[in-house]
Amino acid sequence: MRSARTPVHSATIVLLPGDGVGPEVTAAARLVLEAVGKRFDLSFEFREALIGGAAIDATGTALPRETVELCERSDAVLLGAVGGPAWDNPSASVRPEQGLLGIRRALGVFANLRPVVPHPSLAHISPIRPDVLAGVDMLVVRELTGGIYFGEKSRERVDDGELARDVCSYTTAEIQRIVRVAADLARARKRRLTSVDKANVLETSRLWRRTTSDLVAAEYPDVYLDHMLVDTCAMRLMQRPADFDVIVTDNMFGDILTDEAAVLAGSIGLLPSASLGVASADGARRGLYEPIHGSAPDIAGQGRANPLGAISSAALMLRYSLGLECEARAVEDSVAQSIVDGVVTRDISRDCASAGTMAVAAHVADLVGDVETAAGESGAAAQTRGISFPR
Ligand code: IPM
Ligand code: MG
Repeated sequence: MRSARTPVHSATIVLLPGDGVGPEVTAAARLVLEAVGKRFDLSFEFREALIGGAAIDATGTALPRETVELCERSDAVLLGAVGGPAWDNPSASVRPEQGLLGIRRALGVFANLRPVVPHPSLAHISPIRPDVLAGVDMLVVRELTGGIYFGEKSRERVDDGELARDVCSYTTAEIQRIVRVAADLARARKRRLTSVDKANVLETSRLWRRTTSDLVAAEYPDVYLDHMLVDTCAMRLMQRPADFDVIVTDNMFGDILTDEAAVLAGSIGLLPSASLGVASADGARRGLYEPIHGSAPDIAGQGRANPLGAISSAALMLRYSLGLECEARAVEDSVAQSIVDGVVTRDISRDCASAGTMAVAAHVADLVGDVETAAGESGAAAQTRGISFPR
């Protein structure tokens, strides 16, 4: 195990605003990253590219080749959201979601990290009782480039209508690499790993369970592993969420469980994610960063979207792809302070007073600008006490 990559002093960041509220929250995250650049003397170059419905309208495809090439040449990618009613025709052959699945696949970002840490001062907006929420700090590691979302699909006419198929498959190697990421992360936390599957019914889950057991026994004897069926997990997330440390699960279960887990935090608008590929020789890990909320077409263009999920995703980008742990913490602390200050969007505000997307971002950016650190403690110095991350 080794630390995250050597910290950078300059980086090229590709922004993929996408659809709905995507452009608004991406602009908000950029404002905060610019403040980070100024405060810590780093130079970020931003490039923008098309994805999703916006790309379909402009080019006829949800993931233009130039977008993939630009992302491949960058240090990290920050995505807003894709999709919306304009492209929702179920029989359309091009769909915005193809852009998202396509860029994940093209960049090989197989490990999707979704941390869920409810903010104490937001207990009032969660439907879950404060005593149940106390101590919740979990990290869901979702496999992102395999399983049923990427399996063969087919549709054919049969006597009494149609037959549709989505194939779910996983190889041992695909399971091992995601479990290694999760187990390494568990090692840097409370050393508890819960693998979630449906091994009482699905063959892929039986392979998942055996592979996970064998790998953890052989390589991570210091990590406590348990297995849980996905339906039980859905229930436990509401009943005893504080019991979880790191959860590792397949693509579809991870998709569903993380929307559920977002309820613990109070608003899906708060949750960030990092999607990572394999590390290169210098420890750099290619990353795609996105809030887990969708395009929220009902509030798009109104400046009301919560930017904190996107801003927190930018923090994960600083940490995992750029090796800037101290800067990542500065952003996370500023997000938390913004919540304490009550400078938040309507979805999480305590009273009628709420701020717009850019006003929240400007407040977070101001807080980042005021962050105090020990002299020279950016980047390199922070590495010595920074988080560990597997290669
Ligand atoms: C997510 C989203 C996507 C997914 C959709 C938009 C394809 O729900 O990131 O969780 O299922 O992965
Ligand atoms: Mg989802």
